Amino acid sequence: MLDRLDAQPPDALLALIKMYAADEREDKIDLGVGVYRTNDGATPVFRSIKLAEQRLIDEQDSKSYLGPEGDSGFVKALMPYIFGDDETLAARIEGMQTPGGTGAVRLAVALAAKAGVKRVHLGVPSWPNHAQILDDVGVETVTFRHSTDKGTADLDAVLATIDAAGAGDAVLLHGCCHNPTGIDYTAEEWAQIAEAFVASGALPILDIAYQGLGQGMEEDVAGVRTVLDRVPEALIAYSCDKNFGLYRDRVGAFYMMAEQPDQLAAIASNANALARANWSMPPDHGGAAVRIALEDAHMTQVWQDELDEMRSRMRRVRERLAQADNEAPGLGLASLADQNGLFAMLPLTKDQIVKLREEHAIYMAGSGRINVAGLHAGNTEKFIAALADVTKG
Ligand code: LMR
Repeated sequence: MLDRLDAQPPDALLALIKMYAADEREDKIDLGVGVYRTNDGATPVFRSIKLAEQRLIDEQDSKSYLGPEGDSGFVKALMPYIFGDDETLAARIEGMQTPGGTGAVRLAVALAAKAGVKRVHLGVPSWPNHAQILDDVGVETVTFRHSTDKGTADLDAVLATIDAAGAGDAVLLHGCCHNPTGIDYTAEEWAQIAEAFVASGALPILDIAYQGLGQGMEEDVAGVRTVLDRVPEALIAYSCDKNFGLYRDRVGAFYMMAEQPDQLAAIASNANALARANWSMPPDHGGAAVRIALEDAHMTQVWQDELDEMRSRMRRVRERLAQADNEAPGLGLASLADQNGLFAMLPLTKDQIVKLREEHAIYMAGSGRINVAGLHAGNTEKFIAALADVTKG
């Protein structure tokens, strides 16, 4: 029976991690998978998380089951950061912990499907796992163009998509730090998107995986809040993998916003049932550490300082890359300073990407996506020179 299964290609991004690890060249540069790196190229455990983990070890008195919703203190502690302090809005929102942002997206799509959503509209390019999840849940994926060649968002495409969508449709949008382009909607564009949702019957699914890594904690969710202020219902997927550096601990949350508070119990009971059938309960450790960090004023401050440092470092890298394009136009880096987060798409051919890897030991996704956090004082100039080499006429 099992021999009927066709071999599947390995996940391209995860395969890149292995290829990079196997490369013995000392000056290799990893611009592949989306993890933050310091100026020394390291991805250390956050100081705030170390403090929280220490307290967790000292004070946790049981590892008994919690339930499909996970650590509700963790889920609640994140809410003011995501949704602000509007109590009327908060009363319409119920959340649960999930295994990473992936678990949250999975739950959002599965719950939408259970509620009757048949098609999910997805701006492309997108994080490749979005399409895989939609396919695996069994809903139809309908794509629209996320961004233009000029490095701006394609507002007309998203508005036309929402306008044409109706009951049975959901539209999946990145809350901030778009993966893979780094191109986010502006405040004015989010306002138009919100109005389009109000006029349409489509359900917004909002994926927030990089809060704090774009313009700031508040700024990065301003667009999402504009939508939530106007629409009756929405599903929100959230990841703490990047903004708490908890990647392998798989820390995420899923929030459901209902039209009326008294509808929440029934909606959440469906999400709980889906979680139970998928993973039963989320892993506890990382979520508990985030809860402890957010409940303690000192640890929260340490965490915010860490995020500020990460954001400024990535901003400096982006500015240096844009400046390099200014000095030697044609590198495809000009718009990077106006974009947000870990990622940018470079207009490179497959051959140029292979050449960067084989001749310069520079690893990036086959789509031309780079993780700007993989660049730092010690390797940025090498990267710029290599790019000039492979793009020269
Ligand atoms: C990425 O896009 O590199 C990250 O979100 C990691 C992943 O799971 O794909």
